[in-house]
Amino acid sequence: MTSTCFAPFLFLSLIAGCAARPIYPLPSKTSNENRQPIQTSRPYNIAHRGSNGEIPEETAAAYMRAIKEGADFIETDILSSKDGVLICFHDVTLDETTDVTKHKEFANRKRTYEVQGVNTTGFFTVDFTLEELKKLRVKQRYVFRDQQYNGKFPIITFEEFISIALDAPRVVGIYPEIKNPVFINQRVKWPDGKRFEDKFVETLKKYGYRGSYMSKDWFKQPLFIQSFAPTSLVYISNLTDSPKIFLIDDVTIPTQDTNQSYWEITSDDYLDFIKEYVVGIGPWKDTVVPIKDNYLQTPTDLVARAHAHNLQVHPYTYRDENVFLHFDFHQDPYQEYDYWLNKIGVDGLFTDFTGSLHKFQEWTSPLSQNDGSDKGRASKLLDKIELLIASYKNG
Ligand SMILES: *[C@@H]1O[C@H](CO)[C@@H](O)[C@H](O)[C@H]1NC(C)=O
Ligand SMILES: *[C@@H]1O[C@H](CO)[C@@H](O)[C@H](O)[C@H]1NC(C)=O
Ligand SMILES: *[C@@H]1O[C@H](CO)[C@@H](O)[C@H](O)[C@H]1NC(C)=O
Repeated sequence: MTSTCFAPFLFLSLIAGCAARPIYPLPSKTSNENRQPIQTSRPYNIAHRGSNGEIPEETAAAYMRAIKEGADFIETDILSSKDGVLICFHDVTLDETTDVTKHKEFANRKRTYEVQGVNTTGFFTVDFTLEELKKLRVKQRYVFRDQQYNGKFPIITFEEFISIALDAPRVVGIYPEIKNPVFINQRVKWPDGKRFEDKFVETLKKYGYRGSYMSKDWFKQPLFIQSFAPTSLVYISNLTDSPKIFLIDDVTIPTQDTNQSYWEITSDDYLDFIKEYVVGIGPWKDTVVPIKDNYLQTPTDLVARAHAHNLQVHPYTYRDENVFLHFDFHQDPYQEYDYWLNKIGVDGLFTDFTGSLHKFQEWTSPLSQNDGSDKGRASKLLDKIELLIASYKNG
């Protein structure tokens, strides 16, 4: 893929942390005519926080790398600034992945708040205005990853994130999470009395994201909305028909809003309930296949039961490094992908290394869209037919 037309202005403005001047195409000006459509013939490559295995998470550079490396979707976590601007950031505190502690002017901002039943101390995004957040620079979460980009890139807003996807040279989907909605709604008040979830959906609609899974509108701007909080998903299903994914945490962690156990929310009864609102679930992979002494145990029946409810399964998080790979995979991330794609049979994967997953899929189930061969033409034709059928079905 060539990157020459790849929005150098946007890139520079995001690197420089220029908050006031987001450059993005107007939704009405976005055209998919010459852009390669999103593939739907194999499990989705979901770039978890961008290519954060290589570049600090949730930065413009991490997302652009992921797009270059073949992501179907770029994934992000949405939180809020003090002044109610939605930002892409994973933790409720800035401590782990920014240089906030180096900023003397913010030394008095440290707070302790209860977050999901745990007293947490640190510098919270909700105590900084967007302008202040833009003064910070992001750094790698893990010491064993490349540190050379630390201090180079600012936090980006939800709108800037969307503009990166819309500017991509092919159709790239977005996969934003409504992060810690209980906490955000407690701490941030929007002047118009709206909730975090309202602001989240408003932003998506402003940029033209709409339409049910595989509808014509969805193919133009593919989107999955994700949340660990069932009440948020039920609430926003009133606001948009865009597809939603219900995230499921570790077996020991109750839901943050409804205080339901893992066992309750993975029961057949609950899947029956939630399938009215979501198209799939996003479980932590080690709950789908439990681990003992770093070896895989017998897989649970969660994937089979979810599929029986017509729910997709997108587990998280796949990481190349030895420290994350279970011994069964012989320190080989391709063996892990092979196991999950071909043995467990999932519908998408959240990966820190989009490039690795993409190469594995290209080698084992190539799309061959740009090779000019008969196979390539056939797959293009199939994509066209798929689009046609989808638009016919969904009006
Ligand atoms: C958090 O700290 C406050 C103040 O010390 C205390 O009242 C509260 O019970 C603590 N909450 C938890 C969950 O420990
Ligand atoms: C959905 O909207 C309807 C009509 O506005 C309202 O009565 C209902 O309570 C809403 N449901 C949820 C879950 O917010
Ligand atoms: C959540 O549920 C557990 C188990 O039923 C209960 O012990 C706990 O008090 C509940 N927590 C809250 C905040 O309701």
